Amino acid sequence: MSRRPLVGLLYNPTVPIVLDAIGERVDFIEVVPDRLWHDFGVNARHRFRRSLSAVEELRRYAQGRPLVGHGIGLSLSSETPLDERLLDEVLASHRTLRYRWYSEHLEVLLKSDRSAPETHAGIALPVVLDDDLLELVGGKVRRLGEALGTRILLENSTMLPTALDQDMSEPEFFNRLHRQTGCGMLLDLHNLHASTRNLGVSADEYLAELDPDLVVEIHLAGADRTFELPADSLSRPMLDEAWQWANTWAPRFHNLAAITYEYRESHHRRHGLGGIGRELELMRDLAAGIGESRASEMI
Ligand SMILES: [Fe+2]
Repeated sequence: MSRRPLVGLLYNPTVPIVLDAIGERVDFIEVVPDRLWHDFGVNARHRFRRSLSAVEELRRYAQGRPLVGHGIGLSLSSETPLDERLLDEVLASHRTLRYRWYSEHLEVLLKSDRSAPETHAGIALPVVLDDDLLELVGGKVRRLGEALGTRILLENSTMLPTALDQDMSEPEFFNRLHRQTGCGMLLDLHNLHASTRNLGVSADEYLAELDPDLVVEIHLAGADRTFELPADSLSRPMLDEAWQWANTWAPRFHNLAAITYEYRESHHRRHGLGGIGRELELMRDLAAGIGESRASEMI
């Protein structure tokens, strides 16, 4: 069995164009299940309406490629209880698409207020990294893993500048969560770039602090600036600096199983097939180099 990490794309409605043209460069597809249904809110009687045509198209284009799930709605860092109805919908999606693993984000999207138990914040709110959050997220990660029967990964989100006091660094949080629950990390190098710019910390120090066993998947992407801050718009090719981190650090992550490129469909034309193809080629070179060094280690 090849120990080369797989190379994949985050699925969006323009990904079939890429697969038709240069599908041989794409080993697997990452699926955001929350985009395969409409959610009319916690108070709706018929809350979810599934987009069966989107699921059918996805299955057609998967063509034997493994699928992995990448959720954006469970808001595992929120103080609100786990959204069981949303979890049921994620489970139904998993039964149909059989995700190899499932990831979510270290961020707060849902919050309680006086008018509603669960209100979408409209923006990913920063988290306070402390023991309480570790316990809260750890409990939900365990519950999600038991429900799905797959490995769970958590992705580093873009950290905005805040005056919040943190009891631990983000790498320490991920390391401890891994030790306590087995949760892996989805390391987003674009989000890391944005966070290091926004908070004035060193990316290399951040990466050196991560347990090398932790990282199972890497996200690559690029973005525009929002209000002069790097954000998570998935609108541009990856920066050279982030490619350098990928080439330096990815080979050190022994359990790295996948490298995924993310772009939004609204920026498909800006990337162009040539641009997406170039990123995929660079990713395949990186994955092949890792595969060769792993093979030589086994001799
Ligand atoms: Fe990401």
